[in-house]
Amino acid sequence: MVLTEVTNELQTMFDNARRISVLTGAGISAESGVPTFRGGGDREMWTWRGKHVSELSSAELMATNPQLVWEWFDYRRTMLLEAKPNAGHLALADWERRCEDFTLITQNIDDLHRAAGTLNLLELHGNIWRARCLRCSSTFEARDCPLEQNPPLCLGCGNAARPDVVLFGEMLSEGIYERAEEASARADLFFVIGTSAVVYPAASLPITAKQAGAKVIEVNPEATDISFMVDVTLLGKAGELLPQFIKERG
Ligand code: OAD
Repeated sequence: MVLTEVTNELQTMFDNARRISVLTGAGISAESGVPTFRGGGDREMWTWRGKHVSELSSAELMATNPQLVWEWFDYRRTMLLEAKPNAGHLALADWERRCEDFTLITQNIDDLHRAAGTLNLLELHGNIWRARCLRCSSTFEARDCPLEQNPPLCLGCGNAARPDVVLFGEMLSEGIYERAEEASARADLFFVIGTSAVVYPAASLPITAKQAGAKVIEVNPEATDISFMVDVTLLGKAGELLPQFIKERG
């Protein structure tokens, strides 16, 4: 079913849900001015200094030129300095306050869900404002932008640190996918918001939810690779559609 607004039927489904899990992608932050990777828009900016994002954010470049990887992430951090949570992020934080079992799984590293007030958050791909020591693996906040020191040094052992994000060619951090899968399998309503759903394993989560019996609702201005398997495609912008689920009761 394809809809462009929250109908009474959809509202009832939402109101009756006891366990809601949500998977978000870059599209939820688009209305905060953060560029997406794919789908519509201007793709120009994801080539930086002649290199494609998949080369810049790669384990391979991290091994050979960690300073350049940090410069790339510093560039992305600069773009985020002015970014604020939008109505979509804020609506999801509000949903959590109204739902007894709510999990937000995000592929984004921009920290905007936390800034909006979401508490039960699984950041599958890490966080751009955190660094991880290459020797002792401890993680710490690294919010100076531009970086005072490249690479930043571990606060504990003084060794060089790397961005605490998942790079192309790397696995997710241990245990996080299992927690996301568990939250997907126990949901009775599962939302897939602002993701092209082409990057695995995140893109498997709506399938896990569906197979475990959840209704799956996609929110996106465009159809995606998983549109065929969802129960409802809500076509439009997250910042406009998500607040509609709670506006009557606000
Ligand atoms: P993509 O850039 O692949 O997809 C963004 C999606 O958001 C597209 O389907 C757009 O149609 C949709 N979109 C755009 N504006 C929107 C809006 N206002 N409201 C709702 N949806 C909107 O981003 P992801 O699916 O998140 O991984 O990409 C997944 C992963 O690919 C990223 O986490 C990143 C990248 O490689 C890593 O860096 C490890």
